[in-house]
Formats: sequence, C-alpha cells, structure tokens
Amino acid sequence: MLTEASAIARAVALLQAGQLVAFPTETVYGLGADAANPEAVGRIFSAKRRPADHPLIVHLPADGYLEHWARDIPTLAWELTEAFWPGPLTLILPRLPSVPAAVSGGQDTIGLRVPSHPLALALLRAYASAGGGRGGRCGIAAPSANRFGRISPTEAAHVREELGDAVSLILDGGRCAVGIESTILDLTPGNGRPPRLLRPGRVTPEEIATVIGVLPESASRATDEGSPRVSGSLAAHYAPATPLRLLPSARLAEVVDRLQQAGRHCAVLCCSQLPDPSAVHALRRLPADPCGYASALYAALRELDQAAADLIVVEELPGTPAWAAVTDRLRRAACGAGRSPDAGER
Ligand code: TXA
Ligand code: MG
Repeated sequence: MLTEASAIARAVALLQAGQLVAFPTETVYGLGADAANPEAVGRIFSAKRRPADHPLIVHLPADGYLEHWARDIPTLAWELTEAFWPGPLTLILPRLPSVPAAVSGGQDTIGLRVPSHPLALALLRAYASAGGGRGGRCGIAAPSANRFGRISPTEAAHVREELGDAVSLILDGGRCAVGIESTILDLTPGNGRPPRLLRPGRVTPEEIATVIGVLPESASRATDEGSPRVSGSLAAHYAPATPLRLLPSARLAEVVDRLQQAGRHCAVLCCSQLPDPSAVHALRRLPADPCGYASALYAALRELDQAAADLIVVEELPGTPAWAAVTDRLRRAACGAGRSPDAGER
C-alpha cells in the first residue's frame, strides 16, 4: 500500500511520462493525462473509447494558470474564478493557439477548472512543482473516468470496474462529495451576449448571476451555429446498461406492481415514495435534498444496474431549479440505457 505522498509522487512521474492516472475530484473521478502532450491525451480517448472530437476539461492547480491555456480572458472569468474556484465550475474560454488542439477536440476553445478535492489539488501542485508536463503548462486533462456514455465513477472501485488495466494508477480519495459533473459555462459567446450554460451542476445559474449580474443563457435556447460539442449534452449519456424509466411519484407503485405481476424484475430508485419492498427486485432510496441526492446518485445507479433487473424505475424529481442538474442526468440516463421492456406506459 502506497502512502499518500508516495502515491502522488508516482502519479506525477507517470503523468510526466505521458501515462494515465485516475484521481478523485469533488465531482467525479477523472482520468488524467498531461494536457499539453497529444500522445498522452490520445491515450485518454482510447481508454475511454471516446470519439477524438469530444473536448476534454483541463484541470489546473490555481486560477493563475488560466493564462497558460486561454487567451482574451474577460474580467467576468476572473470574477467567477474568485467566487467558485477551487470548485465544480468549468469555464470555456478561447484557446491559446500554442496549446495543442488534441485536448480540445480540435476546437479553438478550451474547458478549464481548478478542482477542490484535496487529493486533486495536492496532485496538481506536485505536478506543477515537478515541471508540469510538456512546456511546463501544468494542466491535467481529465474526463470522467468511465467508458464513453456510461455512468461516471464516484469511488475508486468504480474506476477499476470501468477501466481496469487501461489506467496505470488510481489515486483513492474516497467518495466524491458533489457526485455529479461540474457546471460548464461558456464564456465565448461575445457581442455582449450572456455566457451559456452548457451543462448544469452544483454551481447553479442563480449563483452565477449573483457574481456576474446576469443569468446565463441555457444551452437549449442557444442557437449559434457551430456551438461547442459537449458530450454530456448528447441526449444519451450517463447511462446504465439496464433499461431505465422515469416515472411520476403518483404512478410509481402502480407500475411496479404491474411489472411484478408480469414477472418482470424491477429495480427502483426513489426519493419520497417508497413502493412495497416485496414487489421490487432491488431498491435504493436517496435523500430528498438535491445535494444529498446528487452525491449518492451514480453509486446507486451502478448498484441497481448490477442487480440483474429487467428495468430500473426512477421516481421523477420536483421540477424546481434546485433539482435541474440531477434531473438532467436522469433524463440522459433514461435515453442512453438499454431497451426498455413494456412498463405499461403511453
Ligand atoms: O466534473 C467534471 O467536470 C469532471 C471532473 C473529472 O472534472 N470531468 C468531466 O469531464 O465531466 P467529461 O470529459 O466527462 O465532460 C466534460 C465535458 C464534455 O461534455 C466536453 O464536451 C465538455 O466538457 N467540454 C470540454 N471542453 C469543451 C469546450 N472547449 N467546449 C465545449 N465543451 C467542452
Ligand atoms: Mg463524462
């Protein structure tokens, strides 16, 4: 068993050598590589089996390193980093032309964030002290450490399940507290347009508005041609292999009963309504507050996915802004999951 210091030293040596290291962040585990080394970045795409045109987020030790990666940084970017970094907010900014395009999937923008998990920060700082990879840019590219389209890992054991030998080292920092991926805010619309929210997360549009004085435009309303591709914005993402259906609370018990009578094995993820436990094959109840729910969501989905059920039924959540980020993930999970047996719905 490596001590934390020796595990970090080994991780830094691997990153410097262009290899992959998985590490915890406060949101989910990331699969890291030297962001300025195109071969190392290529290894991330192969390990995840992710299409090479999907841009990666670059993790930095501190906000001062923004200038190693981005150009034309607007004042509001600094206001946001001051308010939310280290933390679960990713900023999309124009990419410095000298930054290899591989990391941003060929786009002329770049996604950047400073994570707040102590082990992630310790790794990033040690990496910077050791030279910080190619050109001393000190950035670790890290998508979520899962196979493309699947559920993001929130524990070291999940990373092992997902990626096995494809990753040289997994730093174990326990469970991720936030539990869903960072909020992504695009600061490149220009022409006085408000920033665009590309992916909802723990940092909410309302919190962003208190800092920059304007609510971000939501990506679904953004109409620019050539808007950046966000893999988390694909309709199908974050998905278990078992079919998954979202159901209103009022219909949960009835549908679960009907499935049981039809001889179907049904796994249930609920929050307020508890169906008759004897009618379900597996059951997880999550906290009824959005932060507690998000923190436990992916581990619960993973567990239910392994329960060999025919269908995962998920109780719909309130339609209020506080629940927007988890609702977003559940909708995409429902879209990407396997084909659903008939749940007796319209
Ligand atoms: O919380 C997180 O953000 C985690 C942890 C590990 O930091 N990372 C994460 O990475 O979720 P990933 O690759 O699974 O999702 C990053 C998303 C992708 O959907 C990608 O398309 C988008 O960020 N993205 C990255 N760079 C971008 C850019 N330049 N323009 C638009 N979207 C970008
Ligand atoms: Mg991901």
